[in-house]
Amino acid sequence: MRIYVAESYENMSRKAANILSAQVILNPNSVLGLATGSTPIGMYKQLVSWYNKGDLDFSQVKSVNLDEYVGLSPDHDQSYRYFMQKNLFDHVNIDPANTNVPDGLAADPDEACRRYNQIIRDLGGIDIQVLGMGHNGHIGFNEPDDAFELETHVVDLQESTIEANARFFASKDEVPRRAITMGIKNIMQARQILVLVSGEGKADIVKAAFTGPVTPRVPASILQLHPNVALVGDKAALSKL
Ligand code: GLP
Repeated sequence: MRIYVAESYENMSRKAANILSAQVILNPNSVLGLATGSTPIGMYKQLVSWYNKGDLDFSQVKSVNLDEYVGLSPDHDQSYRYFMQKNLFDHVNIDPANTNVPDGLAADPDEACRRYNQIIRDLGGIDIQVLGMGHNGHIGFNEPDDAFELETHVVDLQESTIEANARFFASKDEVPRRAITMGIKNIMQARQILVLVSGEGKADIVKAAFTGPVTPRVPASILQLHPNVALVGDKAALSKL
């Protein structure tokens, strides 16, 4: 694992954007695994700014997002499809047909999960997967559990995740209880992983995930077994490593 310590959130965002743009420049056909949450917002902003300067071309890029809430439509302002449109897709020349986010409105969510696995396979796998981390160590929406879930699946969100994400909704009651998320195998099969962490509040879980035992109780700990991980964080988030 390569660890990149950044002075600030802005600096973390720029380092992460540099790694992602290197991928796109070296392979314009890249399959990007993308993430939502507050942590990667600065990285997306930086990518949009470099795109506007003419430094990046997304015309051949394909993307697959990690997860989506069950029950939220693409135009709901808290859906992850909406997040991606507003933070990246609407501002760059990526072909909308090449962007993939799990279907939160699917009448049969299990079937939507199978379709999503097939999409990832048809794309030939993920070149670089961006990940944030939940306070309980979740990646995507893979919550702490007795076993690692391998492929895309429907998950019941934990109370702590619902509480953490309630800040984005009018009230806690409006936070969806379920989500569709890529599984650990989908994530681990990515050829490269880019983990972003920011803020003191993540310091304990970063330490547990990267220096503790590999266990499904801390889903991000599995990343210790991946051969090509870049961990980019600000000083506060990396302070306990
Ligand atoms: C959310 C997302 C994750 C994200 C995490 C951390 O629930 N499903 O993909 O990494 O929580 O979010 P934040 O970056 O806002 O701390």
